[in-house]
This record gives sequence, structure tokens and C-alpha cells, in this order.
Amino acid sequence: MSKYRIAWLPGDGIGVEVMDATRIVLDALELDAEYIHGDIGWDFWCQEGDAFPQRTVDLLRNVDAAMFGAITSKPVKAAEAELVPALRGTGLIYRSPIVRMRQLFDLYICLRPCKAYPGNPLNHKEGIDLVVFRENTEDLYAGVEFGPVPAELAETLGKLAKPFAPFSKLALDEYAVSCKINTKKGSERIVRAAYEFAAKQGRKKVTIVHKANVVRATDGLFLEEAKKVAREYPQIQTDDANIDAIGMWLLKNPFNYDVLVAPNLYGDIISDLCAQMVGGLGFGCSGNIGQKLAVFEPTHGSAPKHAGKQKANPIATILAAKMMLDWLGEKDKAARLETATAAAIAEGRVRTYDMGGSSTTNELGRAVAALVAKPVGAGR
Ligand code: NAI
Ligand code: MG
Repeated sequence: MSKYRIAWLPGDGIGVEVMDATRIVLDALELDAEYIHGDIGWDFWCQEGDAFPQRTVDLLRNVDAAMFGAITSKPVKAAEAELVPALRGTGLIYRSPIVRMRQLFDLYICLRPCKAYPGNPLNHKEGIDLVVFRENTEDLYAGVEFGPVPAELAETLGKLAKPFAPFSKLALDEYAVSCKINTKKGSERIVRAAYEFAAKQGRKKVTIVHKANVVRATDGLFLEEAKKVAREYPQIQTDDANIDAIGMWLLKNPFNYDVLVAPNLYGDIISDLCAQMVGGLGFGCSGNIGQKLAVFEPTHGSAPKHAGKQKANPIATILAAKMMLDWLGEKDKAARLETATAAAIAEGRVRTYDMGGSSTTNELGRAVAALVAKPVGAGR
């Protein structure tokens, strides 16, 4: 029996290709793992009316970790139109499997390291090394949304909230409401995860990102809980910043920041910004981490226009595999994988189109695999 059971969820589009290339690298590392395929993505929505079938949910209950490629998602009406005829008009509503997975398995940490590997022509600046902790289960992604707005809700808001007055004159289908829900528990645990990480990794500073001056109830709660946690880590410097301002500051001086922690939506935004500073979508990797399960993925989507062309950069997925190895406690293999990836980037002989090259997805996977396979000390 293998040491690890890993759910292998390629998804669709370029998800399939970047996962194949990553597997070449994991095989070169000789991780003692059984990789178990799981169905997820657009085809399963169209054929079965469920992009995240129950059998895949069950698989995830019985693995040590999961690797996930990417999937296509479409707005509700467009999704309905692509169902097989027998399923159309049956009331099925498309919901993103990744959001469902995060909520179902309480994968409350979204960890997104953004490191500029030396020699990457896409680096905004050399030396950037940021880590984003994004809350992953609540906030504006809670899924509590109304459009059109039910009359009871409009009536209640009219009674409870003065600022609602201008909206109360509108017809119920002339506006929509999405609820931003932030809990003390959800805020506390993501901030604690960020500080624990900072303490363990010898990081110096945590920046709390919010908009508490305007979004007072929810971001106010987040900031208050965050500051309570911060007081338990006096050895780590703490500061906080508004989501809008930090967009400018991060770009201007990324070296002023180290670990960043934010509610779900702001975390999504700053992690895309940080990923762009270290090479863009081909380099953004992510871990969705809970108490029992962790799912690792590139942050990019299925990029349909590149699908099946062997054009996609697999580095983001390879770095996600490195995160998985760290999470499994395979520190040595994780370090070898990162060293090999960095060496492939620095050598620059094998580059996909986004880095200005013309190599294929698998060629880059094989280049990293060859460096991984070299014994330590063989000279790189
Ligand atoms: P996308 O991330 O799929 O692609 C946007 C563009 O970024 C691509 O056209 C390509 O130019 C570039 N790109 C992305 N990944 C790359 C890679 N590995 N190497 C080189 N270039 C790369 O985002 P888009 O086009 O907005 O969405 C496409 C589909 O993916 C949609 O259906 C969307 O809903 C879905 N999506 C899925 C995600 C997931 O599976 N977690 C995340 C984001 C989007
Ligand atoms: Mg995003």
C-alpha cells in the first residue's frame, strides 16, 4: 500500500494538461502515493447536471490530500443551456464546484504564496516574496443572495436600516442584495493561521487587509478579531491597510509587505495582484486547507482558448504540488521540487508562450522533472 492517497482532479480545459505535466514531476520525485482520479468540471455538469458529482465528494472524504487542475464555469442561464436536453428545465442550478468544495469540507484557509523566482522574465521586481492568507468560506462568497429581492427582506430592511430608505422605493426586481457575512470564528481562525505560519516560517510582519472605515459591521468585526489575535504574537510586527490603498502600495513597494491576511473577496483580489507581480496566472498557486483535507490548485481557470494545444504553463500547478508536499510533511521532496522549478526558470531553456518561449506544457514538466531527478550535489 502506498503511503498517501491523493485525489487527482484534472477538471477540464488546460486543467488536464497542467496536471499531466505536474504528474511527470511528481513521478520523478518518487512520492510514495496512489493517485485516484476524480470526476469534476464542465462535462459532468452538461451530462449529469452536477459538476461536482457525489462520487467525487465521497472520494475526497477518503484521501490524504487532493490536487485539482481547473474547471470551466458559466453564469446560471448559459450553464442551463448546455445541459443535455433531458436535464434542461428541471430546475438544476449551476454552482461552482470549487466554492462548494471549500464550504463542504470547511477548507477555510486559502494560502497563496507569491514568490519571484530569479530570472523569470515576467517578474515585476526581483526578490518579491509575499504570502496571502485569504478567508475561504464566508464573506461575500457566503452565497446568500437575492435578485429579485423577496418582499419580506425589503420590508425588514426598511424597518431596520435608515440607509435603506433610497432603495425601499424601488420595485423588488430593480435591485439585488448579496450578503457579506463574516463571523468572529471565521475571522479569528484565518488570522491565527496567518500568524502561526509567520511564526513558524520566521516571517517578520503580518498586514491585515480590510475596509473597516466604510464597511463597518463586517470588516470592523474582522479587524477587531484580527487585532486580538495579533496581540498574542508580539514578536511579529502587525499593521493593517485598506483594500484600495494596498493595491497601490503593493505595486509601489512590495518589499514593505510579508504575510497578508484578508476576508474572502479582498484576499481574492490581492492574491491576483501579488500573483501578477511574480509572473501572472502561469505562476499563481494556491492551497485550500481545512483541518482534515487540503486541496491544492493553480489559481488560473480552464483557459478554453488554449485548451488541448499544449501551450499552458504548468509551473503554477507544479508549485501547488510543492505546497501539497509541504502540507503532507514531505519537506525534503518539497524543497527538491522547488529547487528544480527555480532552476528550470533560471536556466530559461524551456519556456512556455507566456514567458516568451515556445515550449509545450509537457516539455516544461519534463525539464523540471529532469532537474528533480538529479541527485543532490550533482551541480545545477
Ligand atoms: P483563465 O485563468 O482560465 O485564463 C485567462 C487567461 O490567462 C488565458 O486566456 C491565458 O491567456 C492566461 N492563462 C491562464 N492560465 C495560464 C497558464 N497556465 N499558462 C499560460 N497562460 C495562462 O480565466 P478566464 O479566461 O477568465 O476563465 C476561463 C474559465 O475558467 C471560465 O469558465 C472560468 O469560470 C473558469 N475559472 C476557473 C477557475 C478554477 O478552476 N479554479 C478559476 C478561474 C476561472
Ligand atoms: Mg481569483
